[in-house]
Amino acid sequence: MRGIILAGGSGTRLRPLTSVHSKQLLPVYDKPMIYYPLSVLMHTGIREILLISGPEHLETYRSLLGDGSRLGIRLRYAVQDEPRGIAEALVLGADFADGEPVCLILGDNIFYGHRLPDLLRQEAARLDGCTLYGYPVSDPERYGVATVDEDGTITTLTEKPARPTSNLAVTGLYMYDGTAAERAAALAPSTRGELEVTDLNLSYVSEGRARLVNLGRGSAWFDTGTHDSLLEASMFVQVLEKRQGIRISCLEEVAYRMGYVDKDQLALLGKELSPSSNYGKYVLDLART
Ligand code: TTP
Repeated sequence: MRGIILAGGSGTRLRPLTSVHSKQLLPVYDKPMIYYPLSVLMHTGIREILLISGPEHLETYRSLLGDGSRLGIRLRYAVQDEPRGIAEALVLGADFADGEPVCLILGDNIFYGHRLPDLLRQEAARLDGCTLYGYPVSDPERYGVATVDEDGTITTLTEKPARPTSNLAVTGLYMYDGTAAERAAALAPSTRGELEVTDLNLSYVSEGRARLVNLGRGSAWFDTGTHDSLLEASMFVQVLEKRQGIRISCLEEVAYRMGYVDKDQLALLGKELSPSSNYGKYVLDLART
């Protein structure tokens, strides 16, 4: 399975924070937002990753993350000229995916859960059609909402329903079989001029080949699209990291624990980060254990 991170968009709700900066490079407590979705893909065992962003920001991502070799992964980059919809990521990533299954994650979505990496690896192995990830929310009318049968097959999927049929919001994490690029390319733009991810997902739902996995109450999901949700995500990360003495989505640690880099490489990564940064110290300490 290959990975695509979609990190473009306009970020209008976060202005002026996003008047100059890419939203997905804004800090979420101690690291850039993009670290969180990237760590999800790495934890899933995905090492071939395409990062898509707007033309004005792509070089900043490249200087932050390079070709990924430091982390034992391969990172490639593609431009989305205009925010023409989430499903356009599959079209832009068609050559990269080359007919392989793809895990698409939105660059502003943060996931955290004790057993999440295991769950995602299991789901990647059993993928047939598409798998979406649902999260119970108190305000489902703000999201895409799915209903499922007893096997987890999605029976209905509605974008921002006035009367939600369940409390399961569809999150920004999607797994697709090798037909997704073709399906996305065949979509007509919506009235707002975008290739809608819900339309792509509905093409699988209509064939009975869309599954929803409920992430449930044991995990956390944040989308960081507003000032409040951005701050809440930062505070969540701060509380957990301070209380447990761990780091969430520390890419160097993930690369090490996944066996993508060895201890010597981890020590080098730690040295590159300043030891006066607590984050850098954490990586160095890990390399010394
Ligand atoms: P949104 O939150 O829908 O849009 P946005 O980030 O542009 O923010 P705003 O509504 O405040 O203007 O996008 C969800 C994620 O998908 C976000 O990470 C941006 C990304 N995205 C793209 O990269 N390209 C696109 O064409 C769209 C629609 C979204």
